[in-house]
Amino acid sequence: MGTRLTVPAVGARKVRHGAAPLVMVTAYDAPGARLADAAGVDALLVGDSLAMVVLGHPDTLSVTVDDMVHHTAAVARAEPEALVVADLPWLSYHISPQETIGNAARLIRAGAQAVKLEGGTARVPMVEALVAAEIPVMGHLGLTPQSVHAQGGFRVQARTAEAAVQLVESAKALEHAGCFAIVLEGVPAGVAALVTDTVSVPTIGIGAGASCDGQVLVYHDLLGLQDDLHPRFVRRYAELGAATVAALGRFAADVRSGDFPSAEESYSLNAQEAAALGLDG
Ligand code: KIV
Repeated sequence: MGTRLTVPAVGARKVRHGAAPLVMVTAYDAPGARLADAAGVDALLVGDSLAMVVLGHPDTLSVTVDDMVHHTAAVARAEPEALVVADLPWLSYHISPQETIGNAARLIRAGAQAVKLEGGTARVPMVEALVAAEIPVMGHLGLTPQSVHAQGGFRVQARTAEAAVQLVESAKALEHAGCFAIVLEGVPAGVAALVTDTVSVPTIGIGAGASCDGQVLVYHDLLGLQDDLHPRFVRRYAELGAATVAALGRFAADVRSGDFPSAEESYSLNAQEAAALGLDG
């Protein structure tokens, strides 16, 4: 059993101070967490992308705190060495600090070491309340999928100088409020570099270029497990969707032809019991 990565260790991983870039991947269940952990990733994000890649919803808005608790507990049962971060779903941290702390506490009790929430300066009071309750918070700026309607779809953000300055201000506000790291999603690479240079906490990019202090991708995207979307920021490291369909097809063919199961894949009675039943064995 190795050493579990901690929030302060991740919060200290700034590339400009000589740290290696952080590697984060989403995980939604125990087998996925085990595989990602065996690959040596630094952090597992129980993302609310769960809604889209596992539960079949068109966006992340349908996922509930109950859903997130269920999947966070599954990831935690894998006992990963990677840091486990769980997303606070939409509307679980918008209403009051009390509700926010209560919802985040459920994710921590399910096994997360930190929570992630989306949004900038408007979220500062909730981040401060969480940090005061000893709940570490990862921020998330730029293309924030819970704002799909407000942002008019899943669109790259901060494409103007004015919006870029606002993004930098939001990052500073999140850092000041106590976030230990900030995800930057769907922003021009130059803007992500500006934020990364400005804040002293690590930035973790997704569709945000190479200058961030780390990168995160969705498990199903990088493994080629889903085919409906091909965003340019995803590099597919495997084609497990095609491999899975081919394997299941071979299984179906073997069942239909009678080739599966073989005698070696079946159990047998001992000779005496078989004889008592009038069977060959
Ligand atoms: O839910 C998620 O998977 C995320 C990542 C895209 C950062 O928030």
